[in-house]
Amino acid sequence: MTKYNTSVVGLGFVGLSLAVANARAGFDTVGVDTDDRKVDRLKACKVDFVEPGMDTMLRESIDQQKIHFTTDIDYAIQNSEMTFLTVGTPLEGGEVDLSYVKSAVTQIAISLSGKEGFHLLAVKSTVPPLTTEHLILPAFKELIEDGKMDVVVNPEFLRGGSAIADVQRPHLVVIGSNGGRGATVMEKYCRDFYKAPPDIIHTSIPTAELIKYANNAFLATKISFINFMGSLCQKIPGADVNTVARAIGKDPRIGPLFLHAGPGFGGSCLPKDLTGMIKLLHKLGENPDLLRAVMNVNDRQLDIITNMMSEQGILAKGNTVAVLGLAFKSGTDDVRGAVSVRVVTRLLEYGLNVKVNDPMAVRNFERIFGSKISYHTSINECIKDSNCCVILTDWTAYKTLMPHDFKTQMKTANIIDARRVLDAEKFQGTNFRAVGLGS
Ligand code: UGA
Repeated sequence: MTKYNTSVVGLGFVGLSLAVANARAGFDTVGVDTDDRKVDRLKACKVDFVEPGMDTMLRESIDQQKIHFTTDIDYAIQNSEMTFLTVGTPLEGGEVDLSYVKSAVTQIAISLSGKEGFHLLAVKSTVPPLTTEHLILPAFKELIEDGKMDVVVNPEFLRGGSAIADVQRPHLVVIGSNGGRGATVMEKYCRDFYKAPPDIIHTSIPTAELIKYANNAFLATKISFINFMGSLCQKIPGADVNTVARAIGKDPRIGPLFLHAGPGFGGSCLPKDLTGMIKLLHKLGENPDLLRAVMNVNDRQLDIITNMMSEQGILAKGNTVAVLGLAFKSGTDDVRGAVSVRVVTRLLEYGLNVKVNDPMAVRNFERIFGSKISYHTSINECIKDSNCCVILTDWTAYKTLMPHDFKTQMKTANIIDARRVLDAEKFQGTNFRAVGLGS
């Protein structure tokens, strides 16, 4: 049997990764976005973000004519048998904004009413539980009743920086369905797409929606837990959260991942989904205390960093702070929700001069701060003549820095390692502070 023709609606980070992976797996794919500038750039093989492997795979897909980009959603639907919905669900005024989902679904429904053959809509956008039942399924009621289409919820677990690999080799595939034909079609897609069959869990539609939220909420909880332990370690001379994490991570019931203490989690997903889940709990009359605490611990990481600066006597107007690392994590140029944005905003409020460095994210940071701060491609230039240096992203280039590098360049070598990339032992005797390290 031949592979389905697929379409992907919404060419952000998740949508484009999936579209390109589909094309490379041999599925004829149409990518749709309402942003004509983005579509034109993609046709010319230009991607607006950095993701390992993306440029090459996009080039190969275009050259082999396995992928096409358009702003015409009707064209995409008419030329596919399966559509993945990957439009954004951003937070607007603290609420999950479902307007992109609504608009796409309305257009897909119009397009499907004039189409022959069965069509599957797989919802990948992260949506609060019951969104599919209340907002998506009603738009397709008659088509579903007539057996012309079905909807499944198929959440995505890819991470920035390893998006393509995560799409191709997920730890799990979740198929949320109402038990109709959709689940069977989705299974055939999986058989054709994955080289090694992943674990598949079949669930109800609301359970599939909730799994995505639960996954991100649990990851955020793990990070806040270790950051909370880090704060405790800072009050106990000789204690080190990294060793605590290594030890508790050996317990198979806990596991070693996502126990890296730092400046707090950022990005476009964890903070957004946690807030979305807290809202949901409110709506359902449930107590959100646990997740609020996770958020509060995360917000406090910023205070921990500025308190360290205060202890170093840095927070006086006119002093200069060098920030190493702007991306919300290493391996990406993404600064959405990055701790660096909050740190720099606060430093500017204190009237400090700010110099920044990042191997990938400077351009995106410049879009936010413009001429208010200075941007440096060289680490040495960045830390030169500064009164304090804070490391906010765990880029490899920062890991090899030695006390000498700071002492020779900075006015005063006040160092704050908020990512624990430096070997603290080597920095004994310098004005070195690190998140989660008892001084
Ligand atoms: C996250 C999830 O990991 C993905 O599974 C999910 O698909 C994605 O959100 C999404 O919902 O789209 P991502 O935001 O790319 O992926 O990044 P993570 O690797 O989860 O990192 C999030 C933040 O936590 C980063 O700021 C990172 O530096 C921080 N972090 C991570 C820590 O501070 N400590 C850790 O131990 C791990």
